[in-house]
Amino acid sequence: VKDNMKILVTGAAGFIGSNLCRYLLNDCSHSVVAVDSLTYAGNLASLDDLRSDDRFIFVAASICHEDAMKGIFETQQPDAVMHLAAESHVDRSIDGPDEFIQTNIVGTYKLLQISRNYFESLEASRKEVFRFHHISTDEVYGSLEPDAPAFSEKTPYDPHSPYSASKAASDHLVRAWCDTYGLPVVLTNCSNNYGPYQFPEKLIPVVILKAIRGEPIPVYGKGENIRDWLYVRDHVRALELVLTKGHVGETYNIGGDNEQRNIDLVNMVCKILDEVSPPIQNGLSIDSYSELITFVKDRPGHDMRYAIDASKIKQGLGWAPEEDFASGFRKTISWYLENEAWWKEILSGNYQLSRQGLS
Ligand code: NAD
Ligand code: DAU
Repeated sequence: VKDNMKILVTGAAGFIGSNLCRYLLNDCSHSVVAVDSLTYAGNLASLDDLRSDDRFIFVAASICHEDAMKGIFETQQPDAVMHLAAESHVDRSIDGPDEFIQTNIVGTYKLLQISRNYFESLEASRKEVFRFHHISTDEVYGSLEPDAPAFSEKTPYDPHSPYSASKAASDHLVRAWCDTYGLPVVLTNCSNNYGPYQFPEKLIPVVILKAIRGEPIPVYGKGENIRDWLYVRDHVRALELVLTKGHVGETYNIGGDNEQRNIDLVNMVCKILDEVSPPIQNGLSIDSYSELITFVKDRPGHDMRYAIDASKIKQGLGWAPEEDFASGFRKTISWYLENEAWWKEILSGNYQLSRQGLS
């Protein structure tokens, strides 16, 4: 597989998509056709620094819109697809599952059909190179008992939320298109990511932004649920590796061996914040941000524990996470403190004005 591919990235204006585009352009020699329908979670500001690169183009389109997507394949002639576009937030899937079914299942189905027709039209040498990389989640495997072994690629699927069920359905579709139609696919299932450009509805940005604004920090239930945290740059490094070196038809689990109870993680973030941006500096009359922690009603069907066994990608492709847990969180906290304009535009809703005039 080539190391200078033209890669169509769906969901490019989201958290992982924007970090991936940055990595593909700045740390590798690929070109990027960035596609995103700019839902509430998509933000053109997350791609600002990439727009002057002539190897980068952005197209506003939904993966559910067949004509638009066909047009992109015909005009751009990508060497590969990295499919990240999705509705991604579990709480939203509980409140309103419809868009999760539409984008995550129907949208993936439509993208598979277009990719398959496109793949079949390619000449043999380009067929060798083409890959459809489906980016998925560890949540498809369900919830682990406290001392159960971590999820491997062989763990049976057992999703519980509308989000994870819709991602599980999309994983099955992708494998079916490989087995039935010969579409050369690779799949990855990753644990919880953290890092720059994460939308402020997910736990880590919620904690940072609530804390510095002096608002209650909501912790669901007793805060005992466990997640396995990976710095987003380590995830996107793994994605590029799987795209270029992974075996067709295979799935790779990605995770950082970093299991944390939510309450411990929230306390750790508060402690780092106490050091780098003390409450008094933000006009607050508390000694520690941890005083803002508030236990709230639990998420329905809240999975207790996720943990990833990443030995296949480590042994098979030589990947290992580079970012140390504590330093990754420090970097993330600094990024939010230094990039107020990015999140203030989101909190005010102004970021959505940037999409006006885009079809
Ligand atoms: P995100 O919500 O930040 O970004 C999703 C992006 O997809 C947004 O820019 C949104 O506008 C776009 N999108 C939504 N519907 C679309 C449509 N119909 N057509 C085109 N674009 C559309 O999500 P994220 O956290 O960056 O996650 C990206 C992918 O990675 C998802 O598939 C998710 O399931 C998977 N994943 C995420 C994590 C994590 O911890 N965040 C972990 C494992 C896997
Ligand atoms: O495991 C991978 C998944 O990680 C991805 O597939 C999802 O797209 C991504 O959103 C994430 O899902 P989670 O539900 O684990 O992430 P979230 O940040 O929403 O919540 C993390 C944990 O923190 C979870 O146990 C719920 C809890 N939580 C979350 C929020 C937003 C709180 O206690 N308080 C909060 O305010």
